Amino acid sequence: MKPVRKAVFPVAGLGTRFLPATKAVPKELLPVVDKPLVQYAIDEAHAAGIEQMIFVTGRGKNAIEDYFDIAYELEATLTARSKTDILATLEGSRLDPGDAVFVRQQEPLGLGHAVWCARDIVGDEPFAVLLPDELLWNPGNPCLKQMVATYEAKGGNVLGVLEVPHEHTGRYGIVSPGTVEGRVTEVKGLVEKPKPAEAPSRLAIIGRYILQPDVMGILAAGERGAGNEIQLTDGMAKLIGKQPFHALTVDGDRHDCGDKAGFIQANIALALERADIGPDVKAFIEKL
Ligand code: G1P
Repeated sequence: MKPVRKAVFPVAGLGTRFLPATKAVPKELLPVVDKPLVQYAIDEAHAAGIEQMIFVTGRGKNAIEDYFDIAYELEATLTARSKTDILATLEGSRLDPGDAVFVRQQEPLGLGHAVWCARDIVGDEPFAVLLPDELLWNPGNPCLKQMVATYEAKGGNVLGVLEVPHEHTGRYGIVSPGTVEGRVTEVKGLVEKPKPAEAPSRLAIIGRYILQPDVMGILAAGERGAGNEIQLTDGMAKLIGKQPFHALTVDGDRHDCGDKAGFIQANIALALERADIGPDVKAFIEKL
């Protein structure tokens, strides 16, 4: 079984829900406490053994590439001032040479199209997809790491899922479940954004995937699905029955940072866990 060494981060989205903040700053660089959203996804990928990070970017997203560069002036100044603690905070944002690759998605044609834009870099290997909008928080056992363990046991394709309220199925890709073994559910089918009455379960895809490269060939056809977009969910559905396909109900807290309320909640939840600012934030919330 080939190890999962590469991860695709679709970051071409316009971020319209966070305008005007996202007029000049990509939404992936908005901070949750003091780290940009995309850094949480990178840290999760690193913890799962991912070596190469592939960013599918778009116009106006250059700041994401700059973020991963070495900031010479900043680092030289901090070194001269012996600010080693502040220098340490930059650690995770420095990717080794060649470990960050950027490709462009020229048009917003859907998540399936964004992933397909990375096909030549992914090559003939299994790969992960992480949607940085979804902050999955389990610092002790990060979610993609849990999924890699399932991949090592089952092979094929593994989706990260969580149960969502029945009335929310129309926001997600939903799993049609087969046999259940603990947290692992066999995937019998997938539907993108079904109405509650048509949803085969409440198991929703939460923006974490381990996929076989064969999905790229299917996405190449450019078939349109829900919202007239090229859907990753539809491409994956065509592999069911041909390759092992499982969903792992991940163990962690999910914050939907593509949504304003979810973004604020992520900031509060992570701030409360911090030794340096947690007590002050807690006292303030209590006062409110
Ligand atoms: C995408 C996927 C959907 C998945 C969701 C998770 O939808 O198409 O299957 O459940 O991400 O966040 P989007 O939120 O981009 O509309």
